[in-house]
Amino acid sequence: MRQKIVAGNWKMNTTVSQGIELINSIAAKIEEVPQDVKLIVNTPFTHLFPISKIIGDIKCPFCRSKIALGAQNCADKEVGAYTGEVSAKMLSSVASAVGTVAGAPEGAIGAPVEYVILGHSERRGYYGETNAILLEKINLALAEGLKVIYCVGEALEERKAEKHFEVVGNEIKEVLYQLTPEQMKNVIVAYEPIWAIGTGETATKEQAQEIHAFIRKTLEEKFGSLAEETSILYGGSCKPSNAKELFSQKDIDGGLIGGAALKAEDFIAIAKSY
Ligand code: PGA
Repeated sequence: MRQKIVAGNWKMNTTVSQGIELINSIAAKIEEVPQDVKLIVNTPFTHLFPISKIIGDIKCPFCRSKIALGAQNCADKEVGAYTGEVSAKMLSSVASAVGTVAGAPEGAIGAPVEYVILGHSERRGYYGETNAILLEKINLALAEGLKVIYCVGEALEERKAEKHFEVVGNEIKEVLYQLTPEQMKNVIVAYEPIWAIGTGETATKEQAQEIHAFIRKTLEEKFGSLAEETSILYGGSCKPSNAKELFSQKDIDGGLIGGAALKAEDFIAIAKSY
């Protein structure tokens, strides 16, 4: 059974206190999330520490198990003189640091930063992240025990020119084909057509299903039956009003949600769409 996932990508939104308010509102509603759906919140770096503590403090074990924490990027270098960068090791060190704060109860530990989004089209487009750079990042993240949400997707001109299969196929072959099956077990793929991100325009359920099936088939050619276990998420203007029909498609295992993840009510409503 593939894991159903609803992941929020907060992007560069919310101050730390607004982020804390948002996670508290999500936590307050988490009981409503179906048992087989996992929520992931991918917050800005500055928010990880306090949010790790808040998620770690969720008392009911059932509710706690339904939500995980993630980041939106990590460096393509391990350590050293790379001003402004945040390494995979730094991400994996957040949870244990929660217990070192003055006044923390003995043995306190936060929720681990378990996931990292890599390959988002905004990183590829605005920050020049190539497939080669992304492969470096993925290798470092996986070596640190993080799970990777690897994004792929085509631009509008590429879809119009019917090049979407080629573009997405290359993003998979040049990056994911370089991983071992063991590594691949910790990778989730997110298909996000660039023309649907933040535009209000969503891929139709047929368009989305078609390319999700293609992604699964491409993975199968290299990784065999592992492809059946890999969660493939849809992203791009996914919201409460369209989540149900997208998630009902055979090869769509959930969503990577941008704008609608910034309102607890919408984020939870999407998770309840299964
Ligand atoms: P959107 O963003 O839901 O605001 O379109 C999705 C994403 O970029 O991950």
